[in-house]
Amino acid sequence: MPNQPSGDRHNKENLPEARDLRAILVRDHARLDALFVQLLDQFRETDPDELRNMWTRFEAGLLAHFVAEERYLLPPFARAEPQEASALVAEHAGFRKTLDALGVGVDLHAVSPDVADDFIEALRAHALREDRLFYKWVEREIQESDRAAVGRDIGDAPRR
Ligand SMILES: [Fe+2]
Ligand SMILES: [Fe+2]
Repeated sequence: MPNQPSGDRHNKENLPEARDLRAILVRDHARLDALFVQLLDQFRETDPDELRNMWTRFEAGLLAHFVAEERYLLPPFARAEPQEASALVAEHAGFRKTLDALGVGVDLHAVSPDVADDFIEALRAHALREDRLFYKWVEREIQESDRAAVGRDIGDAPRR
């Protein structure tokens, strides 16, 4: 069936489908994981400016991911699964604290390997946890306009 011309203001071409949104979120986890691993790998050799750039990219990406989940996905999820939603929000709060501490460590060129390892392990556990229940729910329940907003707000695209 040919596309109906419509007076809709939204540009449908860029809207992620429901299944795609889960894939986009999972891909963003993998991207952030890889950025962090790369940062740790190059920690000794990379000059401070470059290291700072990598850190900023990682931190901005992770925070944008959290904010998009908290703004568009977790509030409706909380009505269906309140305990799981508040556990995820609490994990975000823990990550934000550790992010601050790690950022100071990056600036001083002194990140404790234990702290970094714990952080990446916790991030991976969080990613698995989200995909097990939260993202399955997202795939089923999130409306088109919110899928589009999340798709816009996360990833490596320039922020508006
Ligand atoms: Fe999350
Ligand atoms: Fe996530």
